[in-house]
Amino acid sequence: MTVPPTTRRRLIIDCDPGHDDFAAIALAVTSGAFDIEAITAVCGNAPLDRTSANALAIADALGTAIPVYAGAVAPLLHRYDFPADFHGVTGLDSAGATLPPPRRALAPGHAAEEIVRRVNAAPGEITLAVLGPMTNLALAIALDPELPGKVRELVFMGGGLIGGNVTPRAEFNLWADPEAAAIVLASSIKTTMFGLDVTNRAFIDGDDLARIRAAVPGANPVADIIQFYTDRSGDVAAGRAPGPALHDTCPLAFLVDPALFTIEQLAVTVETAPGPHYGATDADRRAWAPQGVARIGVALDLDRPAVARHVTDALVEAARRIAKR
Ligand code: RIB
Ligand code: CA
Repeated sequence: MTVPPTTRRRLIIDCDPGHDDFAAIALAVTSGAFDIEAITAVCGNAPLDRTSANALAIADALGTAIPVYAGAVAPLLHRYDFPADFHGVTGLDSAGATLPPPRRALAPGHAAEEIVRRVNAAPGEITLAVLGPMTNLALAIALDPELPGKVRELVFMGGGLIGGNVTPRAEFNLWADPEAAAIVLASSIKTTMFGLDVTNRAFIDGDDLARIRAAVPGANPVADIIQFYTDRSGDVAAGRAPGPALHDTCPLAFLVDPALFTIEQLAVTVETAPGPHYGATDADRRAWAPQGVARIGVALDLDRPAVARHVTDALVEAARRIAKR
């Protein structure tokens, strides 16, 4: 896609790489649709030292100079053992080749403070894409309570009206820090949620992975990293999907082409009370639901083949760029 620099959407990506975070960043970088101001890392799939190192390695391997900032070491309240099941102990484990070590360091400063600084420097201009627990954004709102009125819009991967993945009711990002999510959902930011309702179906298949592997001769860290994620996918193992769900790509695919998703405006709540529903999201979908309650966009359907095409194209381009590093 060739988008004139003047019309590229100014974007901050907050993430916890994470294999699907990696695919989302690759989509954002290679789409040409964004001026990515910063990437901020948060604890989530792995401890902060890993997610921030992974974010830096990804940004650098893709040939960008995007500054990467470390953020929250822990959620606001919840403490949990990091789930190495799906992303491995590094948070970005590979079935073979790994990304080259970054040639630069993390940028100085805390992610939350950097979000506040950059949004205040360009009120109404910056879009936030949150692909992990919402801790950094909640901290930014605590630092600047007026922040929500200065953010252009928020797209996030998290939640789900169809149930959970880390518990029967809760999706991981919101379960990891539901208190942060409650702060963000109560803010006035124009928000669109990409929950498991659509992201569970945002998988690529074996032909897509073969196209990524064929992109470069020899070592192919992109294909090997996605192969690891494929091998750890429960849905693939159970035969429920031909490939791994790249959850975090959905918010970015929506920004690239909103027509790829069906969005409904709903009043979404997140459960913060301890118990079996901790971190679960709910929405009142009755036609006669009380008006006047703040609503956000909720993605309920997607054009899966088209999303998979965008993501695979991005990962093919990423493989080619990394091979040239
Ligand atoms: O539930 C999926 C989410 O949890 C994704 O953001 C994935 O990266 C993990 O963080
Ligand atoms: Ca993530």
